[in-house]
Amino acid sequence: MSVFTEGLFAGKTAFFTGGTSGIGYGIAARFAALGARVVLVGRNEEKMTAAVEGLLRRGLRASGHACDVRQYGAIEEALKQTHSEHGPLDFVFAAAAGNFPAPVSAMSANGFKAVMDIDVLGTFNTYRAAYSLLRKPGAVCVSISANHAHQPIAQQAHVCAAKAGVELLTQTLALEWGGEGVRTACIAPGPIDGTEGIRRLAPTEEARRWMCASSPLGRMGTMDEVADMAIFLCSEAASYITGVTFRVDGGTGLAGARLLDLGDGARRR
Ligand code: COA
Repeated sequence: MSVFTEGLFAGKTAFFTGGTSGIGYGIAARFAALGARVVLVGRNEEKMTAAVEGLLRRGLRASGHACDVRQYGAIEEALKQTHSEHGPLDFVFAAAAGNFPAPVSAMSANGFKAVMDIDVLGTFNTYRAAYSLLRKPGAVCVSISANHAHQPIAQQAHVCAAKAGVELLTQTLALEWGGEGVRTACIAPGPIDGTEGIRRLAPTEEARRWMCASSPLGRMGTMDEVADMAIFLCSEAASYITGVTFRVDGGTGLAGARLLDLGDGARRR
């Protein structure tokens, strides 16, 4: 049962990149259930349509756009259309992300760039294009980061670099936009079950056990546990909070890089 009041976000508009699956979708669905109109952005038109229809079938308010956050013009168009249909944006989530496990020695420059572009440039594009369309004062911009921003993880150099960039970008916006009443924050989830990231990083039972063991709580988190933090950050209860990162990781970050190693002995020598 949710601890948040029914109708908490009634009348609010929330825009989600990476909103058609995984953590982005998990948060969007909870916002919609709390009364928000949610706008889901993802690259794949079919996936986007299915995600929106799933929410509409539940009687929730949802629409979507198929576009790539790496294309400034496309994300700008999606934001402008949202604004013209629903007015100023209350919440903007930068949740689109890329990931694949690979050591630097086997990663092409283009592979590194793909993740930097989706995560860092995509987050910049989203917030840059949203700026003039945000509710001021009152808007909240939330980026989905990861423990990768705070510690090196073998086979994840591209993601570590990208998430560190996302966090500093988001903190900088807290400085630049705070005067207009816009708050920003990052959520750094640990291993969250049922996500594309876990499917990629822990494809076997052994890897899943390793992931669980890396958390002092001994398990993966749920999308609802990440969504709870997002709801808190966008609520009045967080009105004096900006420019911070909250870890929702079961303490995984405390365990250190050794435990987060993806489990290939060759990388622990
Ligand atoms: N190991 C090494 N390199 C890889 C790789 C892997 N497992 N997967 C992709 N790459 C490389 C490709 O070889 C390519 O480089 P190249 O042109 O030098 O060969 C580069 O990454 C871009 O791949 P491409 O598939 O063309 O990019 P894309 O823009 O379609 O996809 C990715 C971006 C690679 C990040 C893809 O994994 C993706 O779409 N991810 C989104 C979903 C996701 O990762 N979710 C989890 C978030 S935690």
